[in-house]
Amino acid sequence: MEILCKVFLVLLLFAVVAPELGCASHNVRIFAPSLSRLAASAASAASQPYRTSFHFQPPKNWMNDPNGPMFYNGYYHLFYQWNPYAAVWGNITWGHAVSTDMIHWDILELALVPDQWYDQYGCWSGSATFINGKPVLLYTGWSNVSFSRDNQVQMQAMAIAANYSDPLLREWTKLPQNPILTAPVGINSTKFRDPTTAWLGEDGKWRMIIGAKRKHRGVALLYRSSDFIQWEKAKHPLHTVALTGMWECPDFYPVPASASITGLDTSANGPHVKHVLKVSLDDTKHDYYTVGTYITSSDSFIASNANLDAGLGLRYDYGKYYASKTFFDSKKNRRILLGWVNESSSELADIAKDWSSLQAFPRIVWLDEEDNDRLLQWPIEEIEMLRKEKFSLKSSQIDKGATVKVEGVKSAQLDVLVDFELPQLNGAEEMVVNTNNAQQLCSVRGATRSGVLGPFGLLVLASEDLSEQTAVFFYIMSNGEGKWNALICNDQSRSTLAADTDKTPYGSFIPLSGMEKTLSLRVLVDHSIVETFAQGGKVCITSRVYPTKAIEDKAQLYLFNNGSVPVHLRELTAWDMETVHIGSI
Ligand SMILES: *[C@@H]1O[C@H](CO)[C@@H](O)[C@H](O)[C@H]1NC(C)=O
Ligand SMILES: *[C@@H]1O[C@H](CO)[C@@H](O)[C@H](O)[C@H]1NC(C)=O
Ligand SMILES: *[C@@H]1O[C@H](CO)[C@@H](O)[C@H](O)[C@H]1NC(C)=O
Ligand SMILES: *[C@@H]1O[C@H](CO)[C@@H](O)[C@H](O)[C@H]1NC(C)=O
Ligand SMILES: *[C@@H]1O[C@H](CO)[C@@H](O)[C@H](O)[C@H]1NC(C)=O
Ligand SMILES: *[C@@H]1O[C@H](CO)[C@@H](O)[C@H](O)[C@H]1NC(C)=O
Repeated sequence: MEILCKVFLVLLLFAVVAPELGCASHNVRIFAPSLSRLAASAASAASQPYRTSFHFQPPKNWMNDPNGPMFYNGYYHLFYQWNPYAAVWGNITWGHAVSTDMIHWDILELALVPDQWYDQYGCWSGSATFINGKPVLLYTGWSNVSFSRDNQVQMQAMAIAANYSDPLLREWTKLPQNPILTAPVGINSTKFRDPTTAWLGEDGKWRMIIGAKRKHRGVALLYRSSDFIQWEKAKHPLHTVALTGMWECPDFYPVPASASITGLDTSANGPHVKHVLKVSLDDTKHDYYTVGTYITSSDSFIASNANLDAGLGLRYDYGKYYASKTFFDSKKNRRILLGWVNESSSELADIAKDWSSLQAFPRIVWLDEEDNDRLLQWPIEEIEMLRKEKFSLKSSQIDKGATVKVEGVKSAQLDVLVDFELPQLNGAEEMVVNTNNAQQLCSVRGATRSGVLGPFGLLVLASEDLSEQTAVFFYIMSNGEGKWNALICNDQSRSTLAADTDKTPYGSFIPLSGMEKTLSLRVLVDHSIVETFAQGGKVCITSRVYPTKAIEDKAQLYLFNNGSVPVHLRELTAWDMETVHIGSI
């Protein structure tokens, strides 16, 4: 069997696929709960107010990281870390869902389950790579010391599809050569995980990185391979940054330097390409990205701006958003970003509702042409197919202290776009602004305080009496030296009357040149999630909220201004959104 598998893999690598030579006997399904059970629980969960209408979530139980996203043979595939037994983390498998549009998902059998000595306690995060057009999966197996060989805890393993002619790729086969990598000397084997999508170098060899740490230094270990099975550690990591702690779920990909929204295959490189390195900081649970240059001669990465190096500068999202991963969508030539959105409620609340976590709405990412150190993010265009009734408000003034209801909107599932005219910046209050104090300023200068140029913005998931509301607002500040920043906040401090949830407001700054005509917001509201895309996607903030009154058709939408200077609204457009049912096939 081992020889057959090796032959199969060699054939696979050279593009001749022989589906009759499966290795299925290595994949013993000791784990999969039956699909009928999944479907039955979906029905009971549907009546809950916090389940979402257009975000991916399994019918029940705990989910975390997105894994191995890809487009293959007409289908988008999403794998995800999932506990088949409970609404809390544990017993981690790879759930598997497919879609033709990343909106309507169907859940399939589990793709990977813990059934080997090297992944006995969980099949942890990993990625998909196309080898001659066929996807293979790399993931981290979690064993424990008493169970594993050589005291290894985290090891890298590989799986191939049992039948590449099946467009759904329902069945995955772990290689007999697994684990293909164990922790190298100098790296604690509990700090060695999350292999990336591999890319091809000019020498024809594959490269991938794995998250690790040395003392307090975050490390992206680099490995090279000719055959995808034998991997050799490069002498130097692709990149490291002192004092950033363990790097989880690294992601490394090219973007066009021309700031085009067109995405690139992960192996693309050349003079018109920049690279993005993203790391998920285990210490703070935030995803940081940095734009820079991939130097192929030394197989290393250099951040364009050292102050914005990985783990120090910019985040994909300033709210609940972690362990994200991108993939190149060859169907529409774009780079798609997926991310795990945790709950903000207590574990007891998660157990009571029998599920935990969402996937963020898929976003496209590309370089910001106004600031080449920054990425822009925007919901994929497919979302527009869900738009139903449209509400709009045009050209009106929002006075000091005003709260203006958007008449007719009674929905907890909305896509809202709003443009404010940029006010005269002269009067802006002077404030010390740095990358670390935005979130704090969102609390101390929150929606309820009166300022000068702000706070102004939206109240979403607001109850009729406004006792529940989630404010999404701007507040313009001067640094006293002729520079301005728009503080952008998601303020969930009044989002629910329930007590046991984390209501910390989140925020960041958008630097302003003063030449902008407008300040814009796009907010996706979906029952218990609020995703904000400010100023065309320069800053994103995702919140989890649990209103008790502002639910379903009791949820309303308002504009407000608590600054002393009136704000001019150019246009607000809001759509009520269709509900998407997650099925199983
Ligand atoms: C993991 O699975 C075992 C059954 O195999 C179960 O007893 C245990 O409670 C599960 N743990 C969690 C956290 O789901
Ligand atoms: C390994 O797993 C077994 C079974 O769950 C557990 O009893 C033991 O404590 C674990 N050992 C370590 C070192 O984590
Ligand atoms: C592989 O999948 C194709 C398409 O679904 C199917 O026709 C074929 O029978 C499958 N082969 C095996 C060996 O299962
Ligand atoms: C490796 O990390 C684990 C978990 O943090 C720790 O308990 C262990 O002592 C470390 N081992 C070494 C050799 O430092
Ligand atoms: C997820 O959210 C819970 C509840 O707010 C929190 O305790 C936990 O630390 C979070 N985990 C991550 C990885 O963000
Ligand atoms: C505006 O400020 C007033 C006074 O502090 C406060 O009562 C009101 O709730 C604020 N409006 C919003 C939308 O936060």
